[in-house]
Amino acid sequence: MEGIPTPREAELARGISAPPGHPAPYDAAEILFGAAEPPPFPEMNVFPLSWRMETPKLRELYDAARNPGWSPAALPWQTLDAGAFTEDQRYALAYWWGLLSTFDGSGPVVFARTMIHTFETHEEDPVRQCFFSITRDEVNHEEVCGRAITTLTPGGPLDHHPRTPLGQLARNNIMWMYHNGCRYWEGFKKGVHKYPLPILFTSFLMGEVASATLFHGMHQATHIPVFKEAFRCIGQDEARHMGICLAVLEKVLPALTEDQRATITRQIRAGFVFLSGILYEPPADFWELPPTFRDANRLIEEEARAAGLGILTMEERAENWRNAILKMKGLLEPHGIVFPALPEIGIDGQTVAFDPEDIIPVF
Ligand SMILES: [Fe+2]
Ligand SMILES: [Fe+2]
Repeated sequence: MEGIPTPREAELARGISAPPGHPAPYDAAEILFGAAEPPPFPEMNVFPLSWRMETPKLRELYDAARNPGWSPAALPWQTLDAGAFTEDQRYALAYWWGLLSTFDGSGPVVFARTMIHTFETHEEDPVRQCFFSITRDEVNHEEVCGRAITTLTPGGPLDHHPRTPLGQLARNNIMWMYHNGCRYWEGFKKGVHKYPLPILFTSFLMGEVASATLFHGMHQATHIPVFKEAFRCIGQDEARHMGICLAVLEKVLPALTEDQRATITRQIRAGFVFLSGILYEPPADFWELPPTFRDANRLIEEEARAAGLGILTMEERAENWRNAILKMKGLLEPHGIVFPALPEIGIDGQTVAFDPEDIIPVF
C-alpha cells in the first residue's frame, strides 16, 4: 500500500543491519532506496572534483609544457666570475636582478594562488593544468633571480651590505621595490577573487607580452654568457605563457559583458603602471618611491649596462613597451574593448581611474 513502508523498508530507514549469519545482507537496489544526498556543495570550494575538458588546444599546450627543456641549475653558472667585475659593477648587476625579482619573484605565489582559484571556481581541467605549468616555470625564473643575486652579492639583496655609495643606493632602491611588492601582493590577494577568468587572463596576457619582449631584447643585447642563456630560456617560457593566455582569451573574449569590457580597460592601465617598474620607469600612479629613486636607478642601470648586462636604453624600452602594447591593442579592440590612454609611451585612449587593487599581472 502506497505511503506505508513495508517492514523491510522501515528496517532500512532505521539503518538496522542484517541479522548475524545472514548470507547476503542487502542488494544495491535495496541500499539505494535508503540512500540520501549530502547537503549542497558550498561555493568556492575545490570539491566536488571533475575533469571537464572544453578546450583541447589548452591540453596540447600543457602537454608541450610538461618538460620545459631547461633547468636553472644546469645553466653555466661556473662562467659567472664575480671577481671579473668591479665592486660597483657587481652591485649594479645584482641590482637589476633584484628589480626583476619584484615581478618574476612574485610569479610563483601569484600563479600558485591563481591555480587554487581555478580549482575553487571549477575551471576545466586543462586551465588548471596550464596554471600549474606556469607556476613551475615561475619557480624557475625566481631561482635564476636568486642565483644571479647571491653569486654576485652573497646574502643579497638585503643581507648584503655594500661598501660603496652606488651599492648602498642599489640596496636602498631594492628595499623600496620590495615595499611596493608588499603593496602589490596585498592588493592581489584581495583582487584574485573579484575577477572572472576573462579579466584575469587579459591582465596576465599583459605581463606575458611585456616579459617576452623584455627577455628577447636582453638576450640579444647581453654579453654575459650565463645571462644570455637564462634570458633565452625564460623568454621561451614567457612566450609559452602568452600562448596559453591567448588560447583562453580566444574562447572567452567574444562573450564579454559590457561591465567586463570596462573593467578590462581599467586593468590595462593598472597593468601598464605596474609593469613599467621594470619595462620602463615606474610611473607615480602606484609606486611609492623616495625622491632619490629615479636618479639612483638611472645611475645603477648605466653601470650594469657598462658591465654587459644588456639593459636597453630608455628610448629602446619605450619603443619595445609601445610595440608590446600595440600588439595587445590589436588583439583586444576587435572585441569592443576600449584602450586606456598611456601618455607615458605616446598611446592615446580613454582616461581611466586608477585603483592599486586593480593590479594583477606579473611575469
Ligand atoms: Fe610568465
Ligand atoms: Fe616569469
